[in-house]
Amino acid sequence: MSTQPIIRVRDVAFPRLQVPDLDQMESFLMDFGMVRAERRSDVLYMRSAGTAPYVHVTHQGEPAFLGFAFSVGSRADLDSLAASPGFTPVEAIDAPGGGWKTSTVDTVGHVVEAVFGFEPVTPLSDLSPRPLNMGETFQRIGATQRIKSGPSRIKRFGHLAMNVPDPVAALAWYHARFGLIASDRVNLAPGMPVAIFTRCDKGAEPADHHSILFASNMSSGGVSGLNHLSWEVCDIDDVQAGREHLAAKGRSHEWGVGRHLLGSQVFDYWRDPWGHIHEHWTDGDQFDASAPTGDHSIDMGAVSQWGPNMPSSFGRTIPPIPRSKSA
Ligand SMILES: [Fe+2]
Repeated sequence: MSTQPIIRVRDVAFPRLQVPDLDQMESFLMDFGMVRAERRSDVLYMRSAGTAPYVHVTHQGEPAFLGFAFSVGSRADLDSLAASPGFTPVEAIDAPGGGWKTSTVDTVGHVVEAVFGFEPVTPLSDLSPRPLNMGETFQRIGATQRIKSGPSRIKRFGHLAMNVPDPVAALAWYHARFGLIASDRVNLAPGMPVAIFTRCDKGAEPADHHSILFASNMSSGGVSGLNHLSWEVCDIDDVQAGREHLAAKGRSHEWGVGRHLLGSQVFDYWRDPWGHIHEHWTDGDQFDASAPTGDHSIDMGAVSQWGPNMPSSFGRTIPPIPRSKSA
């Protein structure tokens, strides 16, 4: 993209949801593989097994997707954003791990934070992928493969997908401020993308195939908002063992297990008690900033290389829970 961005972010850090019952959310997220970082009267911070102080924030209130945070590379990046129109002054973060932030509001109304300076925490478990014996490559000789049942080992918040009125305009807005670039476009017609997978521009350093997917809100009746949230787990066994754990807990399954086409991740999707889709994934593609954007027709076929078909309910914007009308 030709516009010079204000900064280039390093990654996404966490989403902010709002629900009426933090106990229920904590219970779901524990089944999903997270651990409480801190609980206050009106906000819940949950962490992964990795080094971030938290990877999921929930506020008390009516069900809503409030926004999300990018992690940036320096305090100077925060200062650059804060000096730009629409951003708040840099302030200390009152949350586990501290750090600093500035924020703005995107064209849909989501609060977009940029954060820097978290104090890392000690990992809760070994996050290495399990050693595999694959034909001619043997990583595990003289040892067994034993998968402990229980929730997935979550490494980090990996990406989010948002339904927006115009994916091209959304990417232009995010590129100008945060440096996101397009990995793949799915086009209704030439030059008319209905979905754009975007990644962080880390120069020669590889980045996830997508940190944000901008999807057209056409399939959501024109309602913009959250499509899904996604966390990286350690390996394929974590996807499947985590799936069995969530099923045993009676959680609501949405779609999976499968392997995506664009991004290549092995995925599995679950809904929280209010319907927000939370994804486990592993083994995604990595591209540096030089990789060209791919263009694909919407008629390219299945969105997965294997696994069940995408349900029609997947990725629709979750409308607010209807409020009871007064007489
Ligand atoms: Fe995803």
